[in-house]
Amino acid sequence: MDLHDINASAWAELEAAAAGPQSGFRYVNLCSVDAENRPQARMVVLRAADRATRSLEFHTDTRSPKWLELSANPHVTVLGFCPQARLQLRLQGTVERHGPGSEGADAAWEKLPNRTRMTYTGGPPGDECAFETVGELPEPRGEVEGKARFGVLSFRARTLDWFQLRQQDNRRALFSYDETGALTHRRWVNA
Ligand SMILES: Cc1cc2nc3c(=O)[nH]c(=O)nc-3n(C[C@H](O)[C@H](O)[C@H](O)COP(=O)(O)O)c2cc1C
Repeated sequence: MDLHDINASAWAELEAAAAGPQSGFRYVNLCSVDAENRPQARMVVLRAADRATRSLEFHTDTRSPKWLELSANPHVTVLGFCPQARLQLRLQGTVERHGPGSEGADAAWEKLPNRTRMTYTGGPPGDECAFETVGELPEPRGEVEGKARFGVLSFRARTLDWFQLRQQDNRRALFSYDETGALTHRRWVNA
């Protein structure tokens, strides 16, 4: 594969992961920097990917610490590893937040199954909760409340670090994109 094909296949992998849960890239690590300049990382579900704009979409509870962190510093790294493909993808870029009531959040919410909507009905993520409430099912009326807390994170990649684990010679390539998503640089680097 040449570098053009590798770039195309990486984005095809991400699109496939967003469309179906089988891919190793279905869950990726979203890494941000908090107000004290400390790195923060957490797993998120890859909800959408678009090779044309080099963008990825994630969903989150807007009461979670990351939501606030990302308003102060939108620079993030998205890190994924797919064991089947023996492939690590490390993307750097920025995140745009679409909060409750925005067009982006409303459109994404409409497509969510009920069981996923229910995950936004509990108490604020990270707040202490009484042990007795652990495992309790959310209240059915929670849907409306959930929507008021639901946010979409739109990530746009400016670089992709592609790393393939092989038996002997690991391979690594770097790609850069401009603000429209067009590929501007590509090169092999030592793994
Ligand atoms: C496999 C997996 C998938 C997850 N997916 C999401 C997700 O899509 N969105 C999200 O906000 N949190 C998700 N979480 C929970 C986060 O990893 C994290 O614990 C939570 O969002 C709080 O993060 P914060 O305190 O950094 O804001 C997931 C956790 C796991 C283990």
